[in-house]
Amino acid sequence: MKFGHFDDKEYEYVITNYNTPLPWINYLGQDGFFSLMSNTCGGYMFYKDAKLRRITRFRYNNVPRDYGGRYYYINDNNTIWNPGFLPFKTKLDSYKCRHGLGYTIFESEKNKLKADLLCFVPLNDLCEINQLTLTNNDNKTKNVTLHGVIEWCLWNAVDDQTNFQRNWNIGEVEIDDQTIYHKTEYRERRNHYAFYHTNVKHDGFDSDLDTFIGLYNSWCDPSAVLNKTSYNSAASGWAPIASHMFNIELKPGESKTIIFQTGYVENDDDKKFTSLDVINKEKAYELQNKYNNKEKVEKAFNELKNKWVTLLSTLNVKSDNEKFDRMINIWNQYQCMVTFNMSRSASYYESGTGRGMGFRDSCQDLLGFLHLIPEKSRERIKDIASIQFEDGSTYHQYQPLTKRGNADIGGGFNDDPLWLIAAVSQYIKETGDYTILNDPTPFNNKEGSERPLIDHLRASLNFIITHKGPHGLPLIGRADWNDCLNLNCFSKTPGESFQTTSNFESGKAESVFIAGMFVLYGKEFATILKNIGNVDESNKVLKEVKDIEDATIKYGWDGEWFVRAYDAYCNKVGSHECEDGQIFVEPQGFCTMARIGEDLGYGKKALDSVEKILTNDYGVEILHPCYKEYHLELGEVSSYPRGYKENGSVFCHNNPWIVIANTVIGNNERAFDVYKRNCPAYLEDVSEIHKTEPYIYSQTIAGRDAKNYGEAKNSWLTGTASWTMFAASQAILGIKPDYEGLMIDPHLPKEIKNAKVTRIFRGVKYNITIENNNTSNYQMVVDGKTINGKVIPYDKTKKDVDVRISL
Ligand code: GLC
Ligand code: GLC
Repeated sequence: MKFGHFDDKEYEYVITNYNTPLPWINYLGQDGFFSLMSNTCGGYMFYKDAKLRRITRFRYNNVPRDYGGRYYYINDNNTIWNPGFLPFKTKLDSYKCRHGLGYTIFESEKNKLKADLLCFVPLNDLCEINQLTLTNNDNKTKNVTLHGVIEWCLWNAVDDQTNFQRNWNIGEVEIDDQTIYHKTEYRERRNHYAFYHTNVKHDGFDSDLDTFIGLYNSWCDPSAVLNKTSYNSAASGWAPIASHMFNIELKPGESKTIIFQTGYVENDDDKKFTSLDVINKEKAYELQNKYNNKEKVEKAFNELKNKWVTLLSTLNVKSDNEKFDRMINIWNQYQCMVTFNMSRSASYYESGTGRGMGFRDSCQDLLGFLHLIPEKSRERIKDIASIQFEDGSTYHQYQPLTKRGNADIGGGFNDDPLWLIAAVSQYIKETGDYTILNDPTPFNNKEGSERPLIDHLRASLNFIITHKGPHGLPLIGRADWNDCLNLNCFSKTPGESFQTTSNFESGKAESVFIAGMFVLYGKEFATILKNIGNVDESNKVLKEVKDIEDATIKYGWDGEWFVRAYDAYCNKVGSHECEDGQIFVEPQGFCTMARIGEDLGYGKKALDSVEKILTNDYGVEILHPCYKEYHLELGEVSSYPRGYKENGSVFCHNNPWIVIANTVIGNNERAFDVYKRNCPAYLEDVSEIHKTEPYIYSQTIAGRDAKNYGEAKNSWLTGTASWTMFAASQAILGIKPDYEGLMIDPHLPKEIKNAKVTRIFRGVKYNITIENNNTSNYQMVVDGKTINGKVIPYDKTKKDVDVRISL
């Protein structure tokens, strides 16, 4: 069952039934001011950091769900309704929620009153604009009251939800004609405030939650709205809000527009106040004037739209498969941008108060995003590398506001260092710019410890080389990519963190997955070294790679697939010898991508096993059979009920590894089959089962052993976005940035016979036509000339390059 449809021309998903199986959300904002926006107008805003700088309040695990947003209550002759359906839940005569790239539009109608609500964050300003137009489609005059309202968060989102003995005393606002300023804690240590502004004068306001709602009422029946009034309340302590009320008369056919703006302002310490208790509003006025009429809003909105269209034109495909095109051209790239901005911090499943930016997560996010904004990627790489320690190990996370490593979580995830090589090598391939290797980058953000970035890569490799276990395989530490395989944890205490506890530091548990990573990214680093003329060092690295490759062939192969790990007692994990968890997906993907045991046919066998044992209707499960009991020696993986999360769901993140691996062994049909199984656009028709947004990847889809087989959870902030982008564009379509130029190496399935691709690469536009005759006869003609090999040598004197490939 569908709840809407794709509108590819407008780059939108249009939700036409507000009763979606879960809130279906979107993200607004690009450079500091961010908002989450659900299909009922729910969600919240923050500046840079959803934990430390939360602007509006949202209650996770609330009942009913998804309350807290920017709300517009329309009282039309005692019929009260909201354009986004919630909170009043009045049945609408028509409803559309158009989630687009960086904006959301609601178009709703009730009793011949139409509401058009445009919501977006302008490109270079720190505010959310909500432009609401009401149109009377009736043949008699309407007199309606309109209340707009948001609820302030007291900045630190954790404190806000916990420290009530303080919080109920500190709320402060300042009110003038068209604006409510939220200035809690501004008088002491904060230098920022927020405001809620409307471009026309209102007929009443409220800034105290209990007054606006009525102590025992709720967002579903606020007293002010029921009584068509405002109490002009000035919040002092308790819960500050901002609400403006308007009495609006609309003649038949008449429209009226009001622009609501929620803004964020920072002032220098010496410019905080204009007099005692009166905040300096200069910057706020500037922001308010910038968007005080329809023309200005429209201009800013068009700039935003154009920005996205230009950005997405970096890679565009038109094939005979509409869903594939739509994912690559629009939604997959869009999701990559969102994961780049948010890492795993703020979604409807990530509260924004837990994790900041993950080392491994952010490195991987770059893989799918780099081609869009390489400059930003370079900056990000530096931020990430700066939380690495001199021995090559890394902090696992940092807070975006401070950019300092998060000491509560610490480090010890032994895959982390290698992801840095993945990101940097991809950066060089995309840009051709090796100077990044010279960027002075500190260790652990310590002043004076700056070294060229290449030394960080050396440290990464060296960490693995100096931390091997009894089989010559890399030690796993607290965990590798699979955060839940905690082989040194041995936790018996409820609530103890599986990620940070080690009750039995064995110094023995090893990861075959990290071995696969080492071989893949070690070779990559060796190539980089060779390219910059360090041939000896390159050969040394290759020798280390060979050692780990040999160890993997010897101890990491189980007969039909790759072993997953060795536990603290040197027993195999992910082997036919085990009772549960006999096969794990991760090493099958990574070791095949790294071509370990290629001559021995390992990759092919491993992927056959993946298909036979792990593949279900919605993708490839992470392991099989699911753990039935808790295993002290394995940790969190065995804590989850069967079929969920790391215990046997389709953990979407590693499905693209299987897609890529299949193209590596030349099994194009199977690669595309795996791609389609969990691709949201292909699951749109079963939205009632899948439940999360049909335009966005989720982290997991419950596996065969789960009660709710096929149900997805944790949409948006997942490495699935970038890895699928990588798999679809580089492995299936085969448009691969490479050191010397652009490689074109398609692995298309039979069902895609033609594809026209435009790709802007290092400033040159490649117009590529691929004809898939399904032969193994590869031919490439570039600007009329047949070329040997698959790489188009980079020529910066050209603007456009015409490429014809037949297969
Ligand atoms: C989550 C984490 C990621 C980890 C994965 C598997 O998505 O963000 O870092 O690799 O789970 O456990
Ligand atoms: C839990 C999750 C895992 C995630 C980790 C992050 O272990 O199962 O997916 O990566 O938390 O802390």
